Amino acid sequence: MQIIDGKRTAALIKEEIAAEVDRIVAAGGKRPHLSAILVGHDGGSETYVHNKVLVCEACGFKSTLYRFEETVSEEELLAQVERLNQDEDVDGFIVQLPLPQHISEQKVIEAIDFRKDVDGFHPVNVGRMAIGLPCYISATPKGILELLQRYHVGTSGKKCVILGRSNIVGKPMAQLMMQKQYGDATVTVCHSHSRDLKKECREADIIIAAIGRPEFVTADMVKEGATVIDVGTTRVPDATKKNGFRLSGDVKFDEVAPKCAFITPVPGGVGPMTICMLMKNTLSAGKKEFYE
Ligand code: GUN
Repeated sequence: MQIIDGKRTAALIKEEIAAEVDRIVAAGGKRPHLSAILVGHDGGSETYVHNKVLVCEACGFKSTLYRFEETVSEEELLAQVERLNQDEDVDGFIVQLPLPQHISEQKVIEAIDFRKDVDGFHPVNVGRMAIGLPCYISATPKGILELLQRYHVGTSGKKCVILGRSNIVGKPMAQLMMQKQYGDATVTVCHSHSRDLKKECREADIIIAAIGRPEFVTADMVKEGATVIDVGTTRVPDATKKNGFRLSGDVKFDEVAPKCAFITPVPGGVGPMTICMLMKNTLSAGKKEFYE
């Protein structure tokens, strides 16, 4: 059994990005610039955005953060999106989700110029990804592909079961895993209404768990020699921790790990890769790799 070390891999990739930024800037090119919009004071979102800004610095990017109170109107937010669309210095930007109830997330996502949509959430990027065209791919599925590649986990022709059908993880992951140029696997997507989810899992060579239910995947659901990727990051109360919680994955790691060829831990698996993939997308944006 080999543990897939997302933290170490992410650190390596950050160094690769920083080295490339140095080369670009030394050759007289423009330093990539990522902007982020953060609405309200949700603890999780604050932490994510703070980390994104820190990682931008580590990669040698310019970053700018636009903060709005919870009470901001949809109109004001859309106006900020439009300013960033027009700002020629900004290569890419994100609007941290979730947004307050009174704002339509879909409307905001669709207002973002798809050429700057480094989250890969805009329907143009989602559609281009689905048909295998160059585009921004959302960070979590992109990070998982990167881990599978770097650890030489064979996926071609393998049976891959994805647990969860969210727009951010399950659906794009299924698209990518089925495509010849990425996973080239046989893909099954299971969700809360799947009839025999356990049986599907037991037949899988690769399980990607993204349902947000702590320790849902147990040893009896995993085939000997399978690869298990755990996307879960549910905060569960833990009085022994300074901040009062710990992160729990979707996989019962201790009993599942001994059966696996490869497995990602939580924390330190998929999580650290996501911000890193946002940085890769920002570098692509700076280089105008996908769009003029
Ligand atoms: N909220 C949780 N994950 C993400 C993400 O990848 N991007 C944005 N914009 N918001 C998120």
